[in-house]
Amino acid sequence: MKTQDASLNLADCRVVVTGGSGFLGSHVVEELRARGAKAVVAPRSSEVDLTDAGATQRMFAEHAPDLVIHLAAKVGGIGANRKFPGTFFRDNMVMGLNVLESARVCGTRKVVVTGTICAYPKFAPVPFREDDLWNGYPEETNAPYGIAKKALLVMAQSYRQEFGSNFVTLLPVNLYGPRDHFDLENSHVIPAMIRKFVEADAAGRAEVVLWGDGTPTREFLFVRDAAAGIVSAAERYDEPDPVNLGAGFEISMGELAGLISRKVGFRGGVRWDTSRPNGQPRRMLDTSRARERFGFVASTTFEQGLDETIRWYRSHPAAD
Ligand SMILES: NC(=O)c1ccc[n+]([C@@H]2O[C@H](COP(=O)([O-])OP(=O)(O)OC[C@H]3O[C@@H](n4cnc5c(N)ncnc54)[C@H](OP(=O)(O)O)[C@@H]3O)[C@@H](O)[C@H]2O)c1
Repeated sequence: MKTQDASLNLADCRVVVTGGSGFLGSHVVEELRARGAKAVVAPRSSEVDLTDAGATQRMFAEHAPDLVIHLAAKVGGIGANRKFPGTFFRDNMVMGLNVLESARVCGTRKVVVTGTICAYPKFAPVPFREDDLWNGYPEETNAPYGIAKKALLVMAQSYRQEFGSNFVTLLPVNLYGPRDHFDLENSHVIPAMIRKFVEADAAGRAEVVLWGDGTPTREFLFVRDAAAGIVSAAERYDEPDPVNLGAGFEISMGELAGLISRKVGFRGGVRWDTSRPNGQPRRMLDTSRARERFGFVASTTFEQGLDETIRWYRSHPAAD
């Protein structure tokens, strides 16, 4: 395996996308095909359980990929992170470990690993710069998930150093968009809010109850922009440094609730359930490294992205 494998030509590559049927993965597969990739496979977990080292090795032997985009993960909002911290830590660690080790053994030309904004320290200066990643412990509710992903960054960098593996790590911010998960148990904040407001409106309820006190801020990246950033990095980025993928803005939960409730047409109020956790106080990425290293800038405005997401949910009300 050689490093600095500059500008990979997707048309000539066999590509495996792990988690390629998931929310982000389905958009990444579309983006790869739109940019000329012809041989793209996306095995389901029912076909290849990536927590199983043998099954992972067999997948690499069968497909002999040139490029792997590793998206498979156990993910969810605050509720899911609090309920399954051990599972999130174990499965995300083990899947990444199996994928990267198999890629090393098979001489895979490149692996793009997706980390997460949850890897950042709880009180990292805003906007979060990649160089601040190690300056503190993550917010407690998502630390097991964030640290498992952070350990994979160390694995990618140390494999590059010892074995010359071309493993690159991206750190996407919170995503949203069509095909997101809208079940209230496991969903992230935007789909959860959309669902709550749409259902409250349909039922004529006077209020919607939301977690926390409305003060935390978040940044959101439209899922098709995230897919474009990931595929651009696959084509053009070959360095060990992790790279943030974000949209470069910050919105409070209170403002977000107001915006979604107006877009949905809900006429009632919001009650903040302060017995529920806020999560990290502020979140926004510095997005300059992605622009400088592989020319990525998010192109969808938040209003456009939210409108499309709400439209998608209204036409897929059973989405979970
Ligand atoms: N969503 C976000 O806001 C966000 C933000 C930052 C980073 N990320 C990262 O982006 C990636 C994709 O997230 P997502 O939101 O698209 O999640 P998702 O919709 O839940 O997709 C994850 C996929 O992982 C696969 N998977 C889970 N366990 C597996 C196993 N044991 N073996 C093989 N595959 C397994 C699942 O495949 P099956 O469907 O076949 O079971 C699932 O489709 C993750 O790495 C996540 O950490 C997401």
